[in-house]
Amino acid sequence: MKIMSGNSNLPLARAIAGYLELPLTDAAVRRFADEEIFVEIHENVRGEDVFIVQPTSYPVNDNLMELLIGIDALRRASAKRITAVIPYFGYARQDRKPGPRTPISAKLVANLLTEAGADRVLSVDLHAGQIQGFFDIPTDNLFAAPVMAADIQARYGDQSLMVVSPDVGGVVRARALAKRLDNAPLSIVDKRRDKPGQSEVMNIIGDVKGRACILIDDIIDSGGTLCNAAQALMDEGATSVTAYITHGVLSGAAVSRVTNSALKELVITDSIQATEAAQQSDKIRILTIAPLIGEAIRRIADESSVSSLFD
Ligand code: R5P
Repeated sequence: MKIMSGNSNLPLARAIAGYLELPLTDAAVRRFADEEIFVEIHENVRGEDVFIVQPTSYPVNDNLMELLIGIDALRRASAKRITAVIPYFGYARQDRKPGPRTPISAKLVANLLTEAGADRVLSVDLHAGQIQGFFDIPTDNLFAAPVMAADIQARYGDQSLMVVSPDVGGVVRARALAKRLDNAPLSIVDKRRDKPGQSEVMNIIGDVKGRACILIDDIIDSGGTLCNAAQALMDEGATSVTAYITHGVLSGAAVSRVTNSALKELVITDSIQATEAAQQSDKIRILTIAPLIGEAIRRIADESSVSSLFD
């Protein structure tokens, strides 16, 4: 087995390789003067089971292209099996046509990965589970929930908890986390805009008064969804609001929005390499999912069960 990494999140790839007690495959990703990407693998991978780690986070198009070119290089070097390890799968939010004459970019990315030569995909908290079905190659979708649940039990386990989904679409994810927290009660933020142009109204389904709320979501991007939900929960009498989010995309002014929000703390994973601003923020804490991904890789290589990781 070999672990190779692109440039998107080297610390995570190193931690995964460390968990598996393997060195990272010696490879270089270089740029031509016009920014074309060039990948060169400096060791023999013929007949190897290779896992290439590359979250397709910002800059998403560069990181995606680097992954595709890395897979192509591995295929042409006769790797036996290539698994694209994509801890954060960019373009996942474009998983259906929101209107006429629009693309389904998540499906396009799935096609590109397969065409490049990926034999398997390993990802974490895909925006929608059905993205697995966009691939005709085996696709494992890991969940950060066990890592988050352990942290919540350790830090907030003595409080009267309420797990909150920031929108109706996230209820399944929130319910799964609540189950791991001794069946904690569940609340939902229902965003409504009665007429176009009117501002959004947040209705909280469930009584959050006196509860320490745990907001759970897959992505924080601009931070708008979470910060607004946190304020609405505090207005309804929550004692505190902490957010556990798998993928800290944190674009633009998101870090300062979080810093100035009603959130007590934002906990993200290292699926995406945190920016300097996110690392410096007192309100943001990062949990590692390297052992989770490392263990899944070990099981894929050993052909043993990955799903039993979540029993
Ligand atoms: C949307 O369906 C996702 O689950 C997130 O809620 C969304 O991407 C968060 O975006 P933002 O932080 O920009 O509000």
